[in-house]
Amino acid sequence: MKNIDSRTHVRGESVYLDDIPVIQGTLFGAAFGSPVAHGLIKNLNLAAAEAMPGVVRILTYKDVTGENQIGGIIPDEPLLAEHHVDYCGMPVAFVIAETDDEARAAVKRITIDIEPLLVITDPREAQAVGQLIVPPRTFRLGDSATAWTACDYIVEGTADTNGQEHLYIETQGAYAIPQENNGIKLYSSTQGPTAVQRAVSKSSGLPMHQIDVDVTRLGGGFGGKEDQANMWAALCALAAHILNKPIKYSLHRMEDMAMTGKRHPYSSDFKLGLDKDLKMVAYEVTFYQNAGAAADLSPAVMERTLFHCTNTYFIPNVTATAYSCRTHLPPNTAFRGFGGPQGMFVIEAAIAKAAEELGVHASVIQEKNLQQTGDEFPFGQKAQSEAHACWHKTDELYAVSEIRQKIASFNSVNQLYKKGMALMPICFGISFTNTRMNQARALVHVYTDGSVGVSTGAVEMGQGVNTKMLQVAAHIFSIDSKRVKIQSTSTYRIANTSPSAASATADLNGKAVEIACIEIMRRLKAVAAEELNVDVTSVSLKDEWVYVNGQQTDWDWNRLLIAAYAQRVSLSEHAHYATPDIHYDKSLEKGHPFAYHVYGTAIVEVTVDCLRGTYEIDAVKVVHDFGSSMNPLIDRGQIEGGIVQGIGWMTMEEVVFDKAGRLRSNALSTYKVPDIYSVPKEITIEPLQTETENLALFRSKAVGEPPLMYGIGAYFALRNAVLAFNPSATIPFDAPMTPEKVLLALYHVNPAQTSSYAQTQTANDLAVNP
Ligand code: MTE
Ligand code: HPA
Ligand code: MOS
Repeated sequence: MKNIDSRTHVRGESVYLDDIPVIQGTLFGAAFGSPVAHGLIKNLNLAAAEAMPGVVRILTYKDVTGENQIGGIIPDEPLLAEHHVDYCGMPVAFVIAETDDEARAAVKRITIDIEPLLVITDPREAQAVGQLIVPPRTFRLGDSATAWTACDYIVEGTADTNGQEHLYIETQGAYAIPQENNGIKLYSSTQGPTAVQRAVSKSSGLPMHQIDVDVTRLGGGFGGKEDQANMWAALCALAAHILNKPIKYSLHRMEDMAMTGKRHPYSSDFKLGLDKDLKMVAYEVTFYQNAGAAADLSPAVMERTLFHCTNTYFIPNVTATAYSCRTHLPPNTAFRGFGGPQGMFVIEAAIAKAAEELGVHASVIQEKNLQQTGDEFPFGQKAQSEAHACWHKTDELYAVSEIRQKIASFNSVNQLYKKGMALMPICFGISFTNTRMNQARALVHVYTDGSVGVSTGAVEMGQGVNTKMLQVAAHIFSIDSKRVKIQSTSTYRIANTSPSAASATADLNGKAVEIACIEIMRRLKAVAAEELNVDVTSVSLKDEWVYVNGQQTDWDWNRLLIAAYAQRVSLSEHAHYATPDIHYDKSLEKGHPFAYHVYGTAIVEVTVDCLRGTYEIDAVKVVHDFGSSMNPLIDRGQIEGGIVQGIGWMTMEEVVFDKAGRLRSNALSTYKVPDIYSVPKEITIEPLQTETENLALFRSKAVGEPPLMYGIGAYFALRNAVLAFNPSATIPFDAPMTPEKVLLALYHVNPAQTSSYAQTQTANDLAVNP
């Protein structure tokens, strides 16, 4: 089944926040963000801005009617800065004007006197001075300290990954409309309608039942709207509450880039020990997470880094520690993978380093250490592992050694272009790591004309969750999918939702839809049994007809519904689902936090232009653990998108903050994401069909985030290509591998081994006369 949104998408008819018809009298907001990353506010000068045409009001923290606080996990984030600013772009004032141009013109007239304080942008520096968001956490398995003696080889090093701009096509925004008796209706581009509702309730002082957050769809979220939609919604709601007027704020791209947090950059130390058979024996790793100026979701992201620190490998002795470090950057936040990719990059770097030192292919070490079913993760859960199955199917289908040979022979005859490849196996845990968030609800109404309306807590952001919800209802009722409509996501219909995140949206909400539909079906079958005077166990429904003992009757879906209505049987159901059997004990750092894991293996092949440092991604070949995909078309889309986004993070996307904490890569002219020319020339995806327990929806496995991590393979493939040109280059593990860094590595002269200079000379000679 096609994504139900495709038609309106291609016709430009799909409604996003900025497409909602604006009510007469609507005023427009624009935020004034701090120009300085850290300092004390001495004076905020609003007079010139207030005198600007169209300006109605400028709100500051003094106007906040509730608590000036929007922190989700930790209350450390004011809605509007009070006495100090903690990052560039931190909202200090909110201008309300008659048009959005007027609001933005007024923002430019605001001036602020700030006494500057020391700016920290580096997480290690923050940790050194005790600036932590939460106390550090350590996961332990076995005893790494004593295990080093059993190691024949030990490698140590550091590995850094940079942030990533979400670059959802639809920027952040909200539209707040006052209702009678102090109610507020909010349209928000959010992954978490309840998170918005809570933040608005807290900051406005209104009870949650007065706040209706309604979401039709997002033009992408990627984690960036899990928590960070709250700010704009709370500002608009506050202004609407105070002025009793509809207020809209849809951020411009540069406002969005400057004021919102991104993927967390990490800096990490690793030490990996192997025995002479290349089995990994011990692993110690310390993660320094750059959280930015407020907690946001950082403690949860940090936790997922620890959960994924051994990727898909079994290592018997592990000590993994993570620090969430407070810096003066915009608060960093959820981004596809949620800390997992950052953890996985480090173990892959450690393996690459060991392989390079031992002169073997990394894949030899990778393969020898793949986790088996029953192996224990450092957090105590026993793996139900598809790691070997994915790896071996990859090898069988794509013939790794042939690719390797092809690359070797290409490299032996080409001086100016070098190819490289890497294998990237993945393992990603499905469930919110915070156990309590693993719940969802659905409200299903069957109308007497035979149509069905389904509401859930799921937010459609392009990942196709609405199509999957519709498939569930149509399947359980055995009716034409045209009869089903997925309603917008509203906190009036579905309460206390978890954000659409953790790749678990379809699993959680789909299960709730399934339960609701099954209950309505139970009632309908009872009605049919009574009307037809048969035993209820003999009744079934198929393709909109009632069957008795497998024989079609003359009762169809509509006739049955009318009969049920006449009998005053409820045709509506509100159902609740909570993932069973998951638990976690933080005091022990042990438990069973994930319903299941998703596995897969990718081969990434690249070609580097050794004169320019530019590169192309030739191919990504994947075997992916779909379970039994509910919708292969949508799931393929998720994998392709995830791979490209992951490659972007690892290669060309470079977030640059200067030492003063100012974002330098603040527009699409300075921040490059993969385009049609830089995506892989070939993406092949083969399913690993697994028939596991029905832990997820209809035996499908979650697909949203895991494929992003295939992109990590691009980093190591590029590294291998560079090393084919300049074998003695010392290349720090410091992603992204931008063309600039590739060029530096290609011509890096290792002072200890001047022989590499010969290589460089050859290249220079060729460069002159190619
Ligand atoms: N795909 C699209 N097109 N747009 C998005 O914003 N977000 C990703 C992923 N795929 C996203 C996407 C992220 S971060 C997550 S957690 C999941 O989708 C969320 O949806 P799911 O739980 O339904 O997989
Ligand atoms: N994943 C994604 N989002 C989340 C999580 C998680 O594990 N926990 C809280 N928000
Ligand atoms: Mo996704 S990072 O869990 O929104």
